[in-house]
Amino acid sequence: MRSESADSGERLTNEMNVTDILGSPEEEYSNFVYVVAAIAALNGLLFGFDIGIISGALLYIKQSFALSTFLQEVVVSGVLVGAMLGAAVGGGLADRFGRRRLTIAGAAVFFAGSIGMGLSPNVTWLVGFRFVVGIAVGVASIVGPLHISETAPPSIRGSLGFLQQLAITLGILLAYLVSYAFAPTFAGIPGWRWMLAFGAVPAAVLGIGMYFLPESPRWLVEKGRDDEARDVLSRIRADADIEEEMDEINEVSEIESEGNLADLLEPWLRPALLVGIGLAVFQQISGINTIIYYAPTILKNIGFGNVASIVGTVGVGIVNVLLTVVAILLVDRIGRRPLLLVGVGGMTVMLGILGLGFYLPSLSGIVGYVTLGSMILYVAFYAVSLGPVFWLMISEIYPLRIRGTAEGVASVFNWGANLLVALTFLSLIQRIGEALSFWILGVCCLAAFVFIYFRVPETKGRSLEEIESTLRESTFVGSDGDSGTTEYEPDVRE
Ligand code: BGC
Repeated sequence: MRSESADSGERLTNEMNVTDILGSPEEEYSNFVYVVAAIAALNGLLFGFDIGIISGALLYIKQSFALSTFLQEVVVSGVLVGAMLGAAVGGGLADRFGRRRLTIAGAAVFFAGSIGMGLSPNVTWLVGFRFVVGIAVGVASIVGPLHISETAPPSIRGSLGFLQQLAITLGILLAYLVSYAFAPTFAGIPGWRWMLAFGAVPAAVLGIGMYFLPESPRWLVEKGRDDEARDVLSRIRADADIEEEMDEINEVSEIESEGNLADLLEPWLRPALLVGIGLAVFQQISGINTIIYYAPTILKNIGFGNVASIVGTVGVGIVNVLLTVVAILLVDRIGRRPLLLVGVGGMTVMLGILGLGFYLPSLSGIVGYVTLGSMILYVAFYAVSLGPVFWLMISEIYPLRIRGTAEGVASVFNWGANLLVALTFLSLIQRIGEALSFWILGVCCLAAFVFIYFRVPETKGRSLEEIESTLRESTFVGSDGDSGTTEYEPDVRE
């Protein structure tokens, strides 16, 4: 059961949210908050770009180096293995050196690695540089959301946090366009070299942009640098009461000493650990990257020509971007849970239809279009739910002391599950066919729905410190297995 004080705190926060929706948030924060979030979100652009570029570049790399299927998989997965390592060490490094410095270091590694990939004399070097770039990608996947959530005011933290996912989807789209521009050769040099080296451009923008940004105020407080934190807060909050926010951060910071990996296993943290890891794995095993990587192949199978398949793939990329924008507009109004449940429910249904499309003997005519439609709707449902909400929530639900480390753990599971899907999906299709393979993904989506329904709390409109209190008071997820949301949601309408 929820305590009286927790209830009144939530009511206050929700009333504040109603005011925001009605449109007076300008008093709370300055526009600089948007600048910080937009630049920190470029971390997502780096990793979206890498996801998108390799599928195009691979077609030409395999010709240049005469790669076997196995070596192609190694070239693709090099980044995923590196990303697992980057996420594993990145969380701790973010807690130690700060969000800003780590981002700059990550961008530098991505910059150098991209040039290295472009210049690789053989496949060994290429795989080596992909691994190095992967480390930067893993770091970027956690430090971006962390930096954003720690500078954002609660009332728009969701929207700002989603900028990272928007940047990921824009990165994927940018990569499709860059692949198109440089293929097959450019200035007499194989196009794939330009494509991979192009990653240095967004990396440079991120590194230089971040150089001019302030550190996260919450991290500064954690390091005892209160004056600097106050300075930063006065730049990103307008008329809001800075001292009140400082007190709130300090209060949480004082009852805690430095945390480490072992602390994550403390019983009171388990609900948050489970949510982070659960969402991480479900985001991948529900199959999004099978579509991102294999959309052209699937489209060809259902009877579209080469050009139509490429147009269809770009269409998938555009839908992914647009629906992420819709999610940004909705997340702080309707909350994380409704987005997740509607989105994952929709994904489940669409995978069912997609599988059915392949199950039917003839995929021509109307069935082909139903299949294409279900694929696009699947991506649309993903883009308003598991895509952005996972990265947002892992930056919200953990206590300050171990936030970086805990986010790293969730991210490692995410990259690990990504690797697993990348390495098994094609052989799964070969063994049991497309229909069953997509239905298996559909079953994973259904499991994700059940998990979200029973385990994932609502974090809308609460400060990070309030979320932490719910963990301490065991009200993070309702004890009856219901989310706390349903209990205080009616207050919003009061
Ligand atoms: C996931 C990626 C995925 C992308 C698609 C991200 O949130 O982590 O694996 O490729 O969304 O938009």
